Amino acid sequence: MSETALSILIWLHVIGVAVWLGGQIITAAAVIPTLRAAGDREFWLSALEGFTRRFGRIGIAAMVIIVVTGGAMIDPRLDQAENFGASIYDARWGIIFVTKMGLWAAMIAVIGLHQFVFGPRQLELARQAAAAGAAGDSAELVRVRRLTIMLSVVGLLLTLLVAGAGAFLGNHNFSMNAV
Ligand code: HEM
Repeated sequence: MSETALSILIWLHVIGVAVWLGGQIITAAAVIPTLRAAGDREFWLSALEGFTRRFGRIGIAAMVIIVVTGGAMIDPRLDQAENFGASIYDARWGIIFVTKMGLWAAMIAVIGLHQFVFGPRQLELARQAAAAGAAGDSAELVRVRRLTIMLSVVGLLLTLLVAGAGAFLGNHNFSMNAV
């Protein structure tokens, strides 16, 4: 693969990463606090539902770009790593790459649980509480909210670790060396 094609793949990979990581930070630090401060619970729940649906689609599109471009870069980089031995683990690049893929799988599992299981459950419970005009939150809502917050913090930390592994991979003065 030509260096121009590789540079274009890195460009697209990093744009996908910017959307994926930036979206998580903006959501937690700006969107959710702003909606919660809007006061009326019915209003902010509807707004949050609409936001998470659209944000989910953008996140999936960004992850498809990340996986396709990242996948296309594996072969040429493996060719370079083979200079250090027949096994992928003979070069630092291989060890960092395998670690990155493990962290990536954990990140997808954690963010998937948040996005598709506990996030929707929290919204549903909050809606029921709002419809019933309940003064306080049910014990289940409090438990599910704690879980979704924990999942989003762990998901963000894993995302940062995957990005860090990518940075070490991309620095070939460091990664393209024998272990
Ligand atoms: C299945 C998913 C992924 C695959 C197969 C993949 C694969 C790769 C590959 C092959 C490289 C090139 C390394 C090199 O130049 O030697 C790379 C770079 C990188 N990746 Fe990924 N990646 C994936 C997901 C991610 C995710 C989720 C993030 C961030 C959260 C990320 C962040 C980065 C960064 C920051 C770079 C460095 C780009 C540079 O050279 O400047 N990657 N990735």
